[in-house]
Amino acid sequence: MEIVKVETSLLNVEKENIIQTLYNLEVAGTDYFHIDVMDGKFVQENTTEKMKEYSEYIKNISNIPIDVHLMVNDVNKFIEEYLAIEPNQIIFHIESCKNESEILKHIKKIKDNNCKVGISLNPNTKLEKIYEYLPYVHSVLIMTVEPGKGGQDIITETIQKISELNKYIYDNGYDIDIMVDGGINDKTSKMVIDAGANILVSGSYIVKAKDYKEAINKLKK
Ligand code: DX5
Ligand code: ZN
Repeated sequence: MEIVKVETSLLNVEKENIIQTLYNLEVAGTDYFHIDVMDGKFVQENTTEKMKEYSEYIKNISNIPIDVHLMVNDVNKFIEEYLAIEPNQIIFHIESCKNESEILKHIKKIKDNNCKVGISLNPNTKLEKIYEYLPYVHSVLIMTVEPGKGGQDIITETIQKISELNKYIYDNGYDIDIMVDGGINDKTSKMVIDAGANILVSGSYIVKAKDYKEAINKLKK
C-alpha cells in the first residue's frame, strides 16, 4: 500500500487572513498546496490574478511544495508564467491541446526546467488518450468532478477509471502518482484510495473544516 499524500486546493480560500490560513494549513500537515489556474475560457471562472497572488505568498512564507493545476486554453503561456515560481509540479489538461506534438512539447518544456509534470483528464475523456504519454510524466490527475469549481459531488463513474489506470501503470511497470481532484472528503477518500489514488486533492472539505489537521488525517485513513 502506497503512502497517501494530501494536497490542499486554495481555490475557495478567502483572501482575508490568507497568510494565517496558509500557515495553519502548513502546521496541519498538508503535503502540498494546489493552485487552480482558470482562465475564463477552458472553464468559466477566472482565477488568474488570485492564484498568482496566492502562489507568491506561499513562496514567501512557506517551504511546502506547490502543484499548479492549469485549467486554461493557452497552456504554453501559463507554463512559462508558473515556471517562474519554481513549483514542484505543473499539471495541464490534454483537452487543452491540439495534438500529440503539442502535448510532448509541453511535457519537455516543463521537465527541461527541473519541474515535475502531470497530465490531467476530464471525467468524460477516455483513459486510452493518455496511455502514450505515461512513460514521460510524473503524475496523472483524474478529475473526479467537471473542472471549474469547488464544492461539487464526486462523479462515482470516475472511480472505475482510477482502478483501470492503476492496473495499467502496474502492468507496465511505470512509477507514476495517481492524483484525484474534486469532491474528495472523508467519505469519498476511502473509495479513491482503494481504487489506487495516492495523492488526494481536496478543497472545500479541508478549508471548511474547524480543525484542518483532523480533516487532513481523516483523508489519509
Ligand atoms: C476544480 C478544481 C479543484 C477544486 C476541488 O476544478 O480543480 O481543485 O478546488 O475542490 P473540492 O475539493 O471542493 O471539490
Ligand atoms: Zn484542481
